[in-house]
Amino acid sequence: MNRMRVAVIGRGAVGSVVARSLRDGNVPGAELAGLLARSGPSGRPDTDDLPLITLHEALREADLVVECANQQVVKDVGARILTAGTDLMIISVGALADDMTATALRAAGPGRLYASSGAIGGLDVLRAAARCAPFERITVTITKQPYALVQSWMDAREAARLRVATEPIEVFRGPARETADRFPECTNVAAAVALAVGDWAVVEVVIIADPAARPSVHEVVADGLAGTYRFGIVSRPSPERESSSMVTPYAVLSAISDLTGRDFTFR
Ligand SMILES: NC(=O)c1ccc[n+]([C@@H]2O[C@H](COP(=O)([O-])OP(=O)(O)OC[C@H]3O[C@@H](n4cnc5c(N)ncnc54)[C@H](O)[C@@H]3O)[C@@H](O)[C@H]2O)c1
Repeated sequence: MNRMRVAVIGRGAVGSVVARSLRDGNVPGAELAGLLARSGPSGRPDTDDLPLITLHEALREADLVVECANQQVVKDVGARILTAGTDLMIISVGALADDMTATALRAAGPGRLYASSGAIGGLDVLRAAARCAPFERITVTITKQPYALVQSWMDAREAARLRVATEPIEVFRGPARETADRFPECTNVAAAVALAVGDWAVVEVVIIADPAARPSVHEVVADGLAGTYRFGIVSRPSPERESSSMVTPYAVLSAISDLTGRDFTFR
């Protein structure tokens, strides 16, 4: 039986684990077609033995391209990949907060678009409940270390207030889509919930800077006619990049495994 050939974009905290696992045969029914990396020194000796390919080669040789790079890459090459007939799985799902990008990717094909659940879970039940009856309100609360929430647009006073925080501070409360510009590293989780329920407007995001929050904490409370759903996820950070959860590459690998159909698929 043919194995699914997978190209991975990005060799950072997420992409390096995904690419190495595929290369090592850890996903039955899938194999690494190659890694798309930026030119120049990798700075990552643990990925130097992985085969590099160009996007052109990936479109010819891979069944699936997995984006593990950033939101700009989704915007730049997402539609091209789908139009070439290659499936695309994105991990930087916050890119879909941009309406033009979401519309372009939805219109492109015949390749299929998959959004990885990444660091968050419970999307299956939220998706089912939203089909049953629209949600009335969903609050996604994201708690991170204060320094991880300092942004370039903040004035010096606000940035300093975060850096010296000794107790929790609410730094943002607003519509999920607004996190894309203001706290881009919080957009992936907000976008995953909004996409699962098919409604950006119903999702409010609260961002808390807490010096006691070692790992990132995501809490979701969703209320609607179908029920109330509450869950919390306390993720350990990736050993390589504190703002990435350790579980994220394994969410990608599980999703690829679902696509190959060689393991149990939870639906
Ligand atoms: N959905 C989620 O829950 C979730 C969780 C963690 C990370 N993410 C997202 O996944 C992405 C990757 O995260 P990470 O922790 O691996 O980041 P990282 O910074 O460790 O790695 C990103 C890699 O992409 C590479 N890259 C950037 N542009 C590229 C291009 N044009 N071509 C090839 N490679 C390119 C960089 O050189 C780097 O190696 C980020 O956008 C992050 O926000 C999503």
